[in-house]
Amino acid sequence: MSKVLGLFLVAIFSIAYTQLVNGHSLRGCQTRCGSVSIEYPFGISTGCYYAVHDSFNLTCNETTNELFFGNMQVVNYSHSGELRILMSRSYACYNRTRVAETISYNTNLRSFTFSNKNRFTAVGCNTFAFMTTIFEDRNYSTGCLSTCDSIPKENGVCSGEGCCHTSVPKRSKRFIIRSSSFDRDVSVNNFNPSSYAFLVEEGMFSFSPSQDLQNLRNVTKFPVVLDWSIGNQTCKQVGNTSICGQNSLCLDSTTRDGYNCKCKAGYDGNPYLQEGCQGTMF
Ligand SMILES: *[C@@H]1O[C@H](CO)[C@@H](O)[C@H](O)[C@H]1NC(C)=O
Ligand SMILES: *[C@@H]1O[C@H](CO)[C@@H](O)[C@H](O)[C@H]1NC(C)=O
Ligand SMILES: *[C@@H]1O[C@H](CO)[C@@H](O)[C@H](O)[C@H]1NC(C)=O
Ligand SMILES: *[C@@H]1O[C@H](CO)[C@@H](O)[C@H](O)[C@H]1NC(C)=O
Ligand SMILES: *[C@@H]1O[C@H](CO)[C@@H](O)[C@H](O)[C@H]1NC(C)=O
Ligand SMILES: *[C@@H]1O[C@H](CO)[C@@H](O)[C@H](O)[C@H]1NC(C)=O
Ligand SMILES: *[C@@H]1O[C@H](CO)[C@@H](O)[C@H](O)[C@H]1NC(C)=O
Ligand SMILES: *[C@@H]1O[C@H](CO)[C@@H](O)[C@H](O)[C@H]1NC(C)=O
Repeated sequence: MSKVLGLFLVAIFSIAYTQLVNGHSLRGCQTRCGSVSIEYPFGISTGCYYAVHDSFNLTCNETTNELFFGNMQVVNYSHSGELRILMSRSYACYNRTRVAETISYNTNLRSFTFSNKNRFTAVGCNTFAFMTTIFEDRNYSTGCLSTCDSIPKENGVCSGEGCCHTSVPKRSKRFIIRSSSFDRDVSVNNFNPSSYAFLVEEGMFSFSPSQDLQNLRNVTKFPVVLDWSIGNQTCKQVGNTSICGQNSLCLDSTTRDGYNCKCKAGYDGNPYLQEGCQGTMF
């Protein structure tokens, strides 16, 4: 390849690259951690995330290539205001050592609350599980009960035989989840040594009695949805001080206070950046 052609290609490539980066993140900011792409208002280093509330600060573990939001692992997120994380399950095991673990999840962050797309789910025979949550500064508790004396026959049914679930209120900031068991005898322990309880995004857990009563197919973390927005004011209240860029719209969050941004029809990119929304026709 001639030197001139080479330089030309480098120049073309740099221009394309710069625009690509500008379309989704601020220049000079890390755009990827493992398989998750990182886009403003989220970011890793100072100057790369929206800093009016500290909440958009993520960390990338360079060893495992996993992205974290505080101590929660991030799966992905959308411009429209959802963030998917992985969260552990609580359990109570009835083997010789008899161990139990209560799980608490916390987002004491202004810009995030748990979505009502999550389901509180418990798995086990003769299991009761309960959760306490704080939403709109009030305490709220609920739970569910599941019984069985043998392995249920039907797959994918979670309605009280080996598995139960219930909905959760939106705008929750904190969850405490416990599971426990009653009337346990040795015959049940053989096929169901533990009771589990967890939050999981609707549709992301399908109960398989023969596998899940044993040990939840070894799954220890489930996807959970958080709702996020910018600030706590409506689009009308923030007026032209919203962070939504050119060719984008400000939309009041439907799940919490604050707003989200969206590119106008015919534009694509990151609506949270000044020049993020770019025409899809050229
Ligand atoms: C990254 O993950 C590894 C393995 O889980 C852990 O040992 C290490 O402490 C983590 N590093 C940071 C900076 O958190
Ligand atoms: C960003 O988050 C990490 C981990 O949560 C924290 O250690 C760090 O201090 C935060 N950075 C800033 C500038 O707040
Ligand atoms: C985010 O992750 C969930 C769960 O793995 C998946 O169903 C969804 O398609 C992903 N969304 C995007 C935009 O990658
Ligand atoms: C009991 O179950 C717990 C959790 O699964 C496990 O860590 C522990 O090793 C088990 N103990 C025995 C004696 O099997
Ligand atoms: C909610 O419950 C926790 C502990 O169970 C308690 O510390 C807190 O004060 C309660 N909050 C309200 C608003 O009742
Ligand atoms: C779960 O883990 C155990 C022990 O590591 C292994 O024997 C078993 O095959 C695993 N089950 C599944 C469904 O992956
Ligand atoms: C809105 O957020 C500001 C700081 O960002 C805070 O001082 C104020 O109390 C919040 N208002 C409400 C109603 O939550
Ligand atoms: C924002 O709106 C105010 C009043 O509506 C106006 O005075 C100001 O110039 C506007 N600022 C920008 C940057 O457009």
